[in-house]
Amino acid sequence: MEDSFGQPMKNLEAAKRRIEELRDLIREHDRHYWFEAAPQISDQEYDQLYRELKDLEEAFPELIAPDSPTQRVGGAPLEEFAQVTHRTPMLSLDNTYSELEVVEFFRRMLRLLPRETIRTVVEPKVDGVAISLFYREGKLVYAATRGNGTAGDDVTQNVRTIRAVPYSLEGKAPKEVEIRGEVFMPKKVFQKLNKERESAGEILFANPRNAAAGSLKQLDSRIVAKRGLSILFYGFGFYNGSDLRSHQETLARLADWGLPTHSKIWIAESPEMVIDAIKALDELRHDFPYETDGAVVKVDDYQQREALGYTSKAPRWAIAYKYQAERAETQLLSIEVQVGRSGKLTPVANLKPVFLSGTTVARATLHNGEEIRRKDIRIGDQVLIEKSGEIIPAVLEVLVERRTGKEVPFEMPDRCPSCGKPVIQFPGQIDLRCTNVECPEQVKRRLEHFAHRGAMDIEGLGEALVTQLVAQGLVKRVDHIYALDETALSRLERMGKKSSQNLLDAIEASKKQPLWRLIFGLGILHVGATAARELGDFFGTLDALRDASVDELQRAPNTGEIVARSIKDWFSDSNNRALVEALRKHGLNFGGGKEEQVDDKLMGTTWVITGTLSGPREVFADLIRKHGGRLTSSVSGKTNFLLAGSDAGSKLDKARGLGVRVVNEEELRRLIR
Ligand code: IVH
Repeated sequence: MEDSFGQPMKNLEAAKRRIEELRDLIREHDRHYWFEAAPQISDQEYDQLYRELKDLEEAFPELIAPDSPTQRVGGAPLEEFAQVTHRTPMLSLDNTYSELEVVEFFRRMLRLLPRETIRTVVEPKVDGVAISLFYREGKLVYAATRGNGTAGDDVTQNVRTIRAVPYSLEGKAPKEVEIRGEVFMPKKVFQKLNKERESAGEILFANPRNAAAGSLKQLDSRIVAKRGLSILFYGFGFYNGSDLRSHQETLARLADWGLPTHSKIWIAESPEMVIDAIKALDELRHDFPYETDGAVVKVDDYQQREALGYTSKAPRWAIAYKYQAERAETQLLSIEVQVGRSGKLTPVANLKPVFLSGTTVARATLHNGEEIRRKDIRIGDQVLIEKSGEIIPAVLEVLVERRTGKEVPFEMPDRCPSCGKPVIQFPGQIDLRCTNVECPEQVKRRLEHFAHRGAMDIEGLGEALVTQLVAQGLVKRVDHIYALDETALSRLERMGKKSSQNLLDAIEASKKQPLWRLIFGLGILHVGATAARELGDFFGTLDALRDASVDELQRAPNTGEIVARSIKDWFSDSNNRALVEALRKHGLNFGGGKEEQVDDKLMGTTWVITGTLSGPREVFADLIRKHGGRLTSSVSGKTNFLLAGSDAGSKLDKARGLGVRVVNEEELRRLIR
């Protein structure tokens, strides 16, 4: 920030004080919000504090600190995850679905420790992703996934975006401690995310655990920051303090350090009490904000734990009891065949509504004709449906013994239920497809997707209007909306002069949408909004994307072979090419504005950044990328340069050991000058 004479503002000191104040305030409100679930200010007030901090940090970048709440937004994308070796291996637990085996587990311990009272703690088994956090002198150093138990992925950048993870432990922290917990996606966040993905035509996450795992594996932590992940802690790995004697003391200590722990646990001193606790938890768990798939039973006393010991892969002092996925019986009333955007036919069961796992279920996907044949599903059958937590309900099996003889077998149609044209089964594929590009149902789905808020964002062009436009034959291909005029629109129901004009304006305005929205709006299989952004950034123009080979496509970030082939296939289709040319004639933005990369002075070189630099790492990462360099997170034989700031640690040692060239900021600038 400069004053009117172009001089740096002198109030650096004042800014520093306010920044500290804001950071403390935000941390405090994070605590209220995430640990105590008792926010003390409104979201809007919180956003205001956050905004003020962000603005100040932008004005005084020298005051940005890695532990500032603003740094939770995530850093530059990584090329791959580095590996971290756990100080103490991350074991898993023996699992069981049987109450009897839980009783047997307890009795075995009693046999091993006769004459002792064994106190166990029963706590929710959170269905998420196991995580290990390492704090040195109370500061978060890294976070790693379980991996193979010995070493896991370094997901520090991603875990730092989780607001419930403190960068610094409160109170007196030990020299070194490895804390174990579970990263999860709250049920509400999961539902919202899937709803957004569904309307954007993206592949849905099957359950919150997959969503959490998928999010943690993102190489771009800016995406993770938006995923609303949270975390719970339940124990230690390595800990160089010997003052804790029991699990209960540990949980209390974790809470003292400001780490969120389970809000409800049970104490059980006999097999019967354990079973009671498991049942009590089952009653409550559907109301928890996170998904649970079981109960973990663990011995409280650490001396007893030591005496009981371990098998090769799991402790003898703990067991995980898993709840059965919930099932219900109901009648299958009818089967409906839906036609998707790409012409795929999906059979869907309409069910007599039943209550299951907290929601009313009236529909279940049957996936495809093969599935119906395999399970011999008939209309009118009594069926067993299954739904565990947030997953999409499925028909598990037919209750054949309940048949009356009136049930009607179902065959997938050989003609499209929408347009009546013959359907095709491509060799090697299970799905049936309607290949008529003018099939009304497909056109509707494609247009809905194109106009959707997440794609071209054409206000007013929702489902009802799309249905009318297609039914009236006004739109047979997406680009036809750009040829609509007032006369055409006047033929539609409830379309006054004013709303016609608004719609035409919105359609016109969409021509200027950024390239990625157009790429996404085209509805290419496997190309979601995020991929579209990356492809748009990488290729710069729609023509460059169209002309790229499968190999070239795979050079774009996060673009694997499947996605690359899907893009290539889409552009090879003559109908799609005709659509693209029509959209060009209507003057849509095909990109071609600015070039991201400045030159290729660093082309072909691989970089790692370490230590404290004069500004945020992101700035240097951008600089390297702008000149054609590639960034990775860990030093290896493939690394050409290490950009090292002050306090560089193990990466510097490793680079020296491998003979990697180490440069400082000044040398980097010289290289690109
Ligand atoms: S204790 C020695 N407690 O379940 C292993 N695990 O199958 C100590 N999990 O990998 C694990 N909630 O990711 C423990 N309250 C809880 C848990 C929990 C979820 C996960 C954890 C672990 C897996 C064990």
